[in-house]
Amino acid sequence: MSADLIHHGHLNIIHEAMKLGEVTVGVLTDEAIASYKRLPYLTYEQRAEIVSNIKGVSRVVPQSTLDYVPNLEKLRPDFVVHGDDWLRGVQKETRERVVECIAKWGGKVVDIPYTPGISSTALNAEVREIGTSPEVRRRMLRRLIAAKPIVRIMESHSGLTGLIIEKTKVNVDGRVEEFDGMWASSLTDSTNKGKPDIEAVDLTSRLQAVNDALECTTKPFIFDGDTGGKVEHFIFTVRTLERLGISAVIIEDKIGLKKNSLFGTDALQEQDSVEGFCEKIRAGKRAQVSEDFMVIARCESLIAGKPLEDALERCFAYVAAGADGIMIHSRNRSGEDIKEFCQRFRERHASVPIVAVPTTYNHITEAELSDWGVNVVIYANHMLRSAYPAMVDVARSILTHHRSLEAASHLMSVKEILELVPGTK
Ligand code: SPV
Ligand code: MG
Repeated sequence: MSADLIHHGHLNIIHEAMKLGEVTVGVLTDEAIASYKRLPYLTYEQRAEIVSNIKGVSRVVPQSTLDYVPNLEKLRPDFVVHGDDWLRGVQKETRERVVECIAKWGGKVVDIPYTPGISSTALNAEVREIGTSPEVRRRMLRRLIAAKPIVRIMESHSGLTGLIIEKTKVNVDGRVEEFDGMWASSLTDSTNKGKPDIEAVDLTSRLQAVNDALECTTKPFIFDGDTGGKVEHFIFTVRTLERLGISAVIIEDKIGLKKNSLFGTDALQEQDSVEGFCEKIRAGKRAQVSEDFMVIARCESLIAGKPLEDALERCFAYVAAGADGIMIHSRNRSGEDIKEFCQRFRERHASVPIVAVPTTYNHITEAELSDWGVNVVIYANHMLRSAYPAMVDVARSILTHHRSLEAASHLMSVKEILELVPGTK
């Protein structure tokens, strides 16, 4: 069981199992759960502790894959007791493998009928309505990085984009695909406010958009902290973000008037000294109160036209200064520079998280990025870049036809918009 939200259906299975002998419960680890659905609210350690305290449970073992066979071969149980939901759907094959495996020593599968009137899916939906706490949300990013081959983050600049990221799910070959969290992009947040991406929007204003999304979502947030500003100011930023339940801030190693990285060398991109930026990282790390919050250092060497060696040297220094991860950025269309960087960086640091933003090298798949060693992929501006042309088209259509009939096919229906946000009715 994943045992995130324990209910009497779980207890019923345990009680039935007790009638057959000593009960061992396999609790799915974060890694196993993340391979097919979103992470549970509670960590593995918390879930294992809860289950081991249920009357009748003799012990708990970590179930770290969706394949039960390795654990079964270790434990050689006489019975495997499971809810009868696995007689149908994607779990059917798992059941067949279990039946075959334990038959080798005369073991039997016992399917316990589903307890009517309770559903973990419905409970989960209810919990999402209630919301989450800053602590649970903040911790989620580190858990995701540990549990998933690659963490998928989408840009959010409003409550509405937050809702899209929270709720959009696509079924691909029996797997539910969804975003893992949100990126508070300085580019899209500034653009949405009609301001240039030059740190002209102050922290309080930036946090308005973040807060709107925090209010209606449960997934983790990564904040684009631009240059982090002055060291003396950055420590307050860290505290503020942390208190809101944001998981990480990414700061870039630039100084002076910041221009968006996608200008590359078309704009003057002045980098901070290594020592100057390391001091900012150290100050941020000293300022944070929780263990979970991450300060991620973003290297702009490749954006500024400097060689790979410069990027590597800087990133090694940033990690030594305490950065919890690094973001390497480039506007090269091939992605080759990022690939080479990742390979070289991994020679020194096997597990320090790498963040990539494949805006220009958009043909590279998540699986390829993951193979290179990337842990977090950020789609940094795609909600805004898709919304803007759609809005301009409709505006132009109404101006052209002096009515909205011709634009109607581009619009969601009034019924749909009334049903979009819970509680509108
Ligand atoms: C942003 O989304 O604001 C970023 C990424 O910082 S980029 O625009 O590529 O610089
Ligand atoms: Mg930015």
